[in-house]
Amino acid sequence: MNAVVLDASFAAELGQRRQRLSEKLGDRVAVVGSAPLAVHHNDVEFPYRQDSDFFYLTGLNEPEAVALLVPQHPEHRFVLFVRPRNPEAERWAGKRLGVEGAKEIYGADAAYPIAELAEKLPLYLEKASQLCYRFGLNEILNETVLRVYRQQVALYARRGTGVQGLLDLRFLLAPLRQHKSPWELERLRQAVEIGAIAHENARRMAKPGVGEWEIEAQLAADFRRLGGQGPAYPSIVAGGANACILHYIDNNCRLQDGDLLLIDAGCSYDYYNSDITRTFPVNGRFRAEQRAIYDIVLRAQQAAIAEVKPGAPYHRPHDAAVRVIVEGLQDLGLLVGDTAALIAGEPPAAAETFKEKEEREKRKPHKPFFMHRTGHFLGLDVHDVGHYREGEAWTALAPGMVVTIEPGIYIAPDIQVAAGQPPVPERWHGIGIRIEDDVLVTDTGCEVLTAAVPKDPQALTD
Ligand code: GLY
Ligand code: MN
Ligand code: MN
Repeated sequence: MNAVVLDASFAAELGQRRQRLSEKLGDRVAVVGSAPLAVHHNDVEFPYRQDSDFFYLTGLNEPEAVALLVPQHPEHRFVLFVRPRNPEAERWAGKRLGVEGAKEIYGADAAYPIAELAEKLPLYLEKASQLCYRFGLNEILNETVLRVYRQQVALYARRGTGVQGLLDLRFLLAPLRQHKSPWELERLRQAVEIGAIAHENARRMAKPGVGEWEIEAQLAADFRRLGGQGPAYPSIVAGGANACILHYIDNNCRLQDGDLLLIDAGCSYDYYNSDITRTFPVNGRFRAEQRAIYDIVLRAQQAAIAEVKPGAPYHRPHDAAVRVIVEGLQDLGLLVGDTAALIAGEPPAAAETFKEKEEREKRKPHKPFFMHRTGHFLGLDVHDVGHYREGEAWTALAPGMVVTIEPGIYIAPDIQVAAGQPPVPERWHGIGIRIEDDVLVTDTGCEVLTAAVPKDPQALTD
């Protein structure tokens, strides 16, 4: 993947991020690893995607690298371990940063070849109270860190100082990543803008007979052509009943006259992602049943967006969407019963465990139609970091957070309705609709970043 240009503004941004994390670390030390090497198959190299935490703190796009934040060190507060320069390897796979580059370009106070990690790491841990590390996909690094950690903890008995515990770094870092800075929002807006153009072009080319894969290819071409790194996730181009498979990525059917097309596609730009879904009729005309479901999903989405504001608990938008969807399905006769009882589901058992609560939630009557939650945090990861709950309470939305709002209704041909609910008449079968926007929490409410992508039914029809 393209490296992000390390200009003065990005360097300043990276410095601020490390400073904020260092303040939270206090006398602890953070160890952050890069993503493992790109996958190779018989010497063919696949694109490398940096670990988001590592990128967030270093801006560096190389594998086999480790960053340390050592706030209490008199000189070496930011340390990098990287691959040394190697002209022969660089001839094949491109330039490496090298130890000097880590200091001169990426601002490390000290830098070493990655092979020296196990030897040098203990020296930086001597005065640390805790080691902060997220066990990830890099098994070699996991083993090294664990071994050094065990050695250090054992030393405490004689030294009376040093590492006394291990803390998962995400508990310190995720709250920082959750609030997007102006620099980050610029990238997110760019990812959204490219995504919006790609969606518009995709909708224009959608006609009966066109292959889902052709639209997928058009999306990918637009993402790259317009300066993005590529799709933020495998694009979902789902005609007709394929839309009822939530993560449909086969994209190998031809669009049929009379079907809807669901496109869930977003672009990655400087590692920041958009995540956009639109659903529209392939032939430019909704059938009555399709339009009825579309209108419910759109109202649900608008009701959810209206709840995105600072201070609102994270679950509010979802609850608003569920209410509109339940009432809408009742109006169509697809759910029967008292609205409040349908929304509440079964009463909880005394002393219910979290697992039992989740199981009870899954049995709610709207779940066969709307089985996922209304959104997630969005940023460097499509399903971005951040806690949705703190103990019993839901996280309060705050300015700078970016969430997706993406309710849907899916009536799979083999839908299994909840106990006591009527069977779904066949004319509704195969309708799958989701509408997804990316929404920034502002000081006063919210801004729909993806507002330029049409969703008004008039704009989606001939
Ligand atoms: N495209 C993945 C999602 O909407 O969460
Ligand atoms: Mn999506
Ligand atoms: Mn999403």
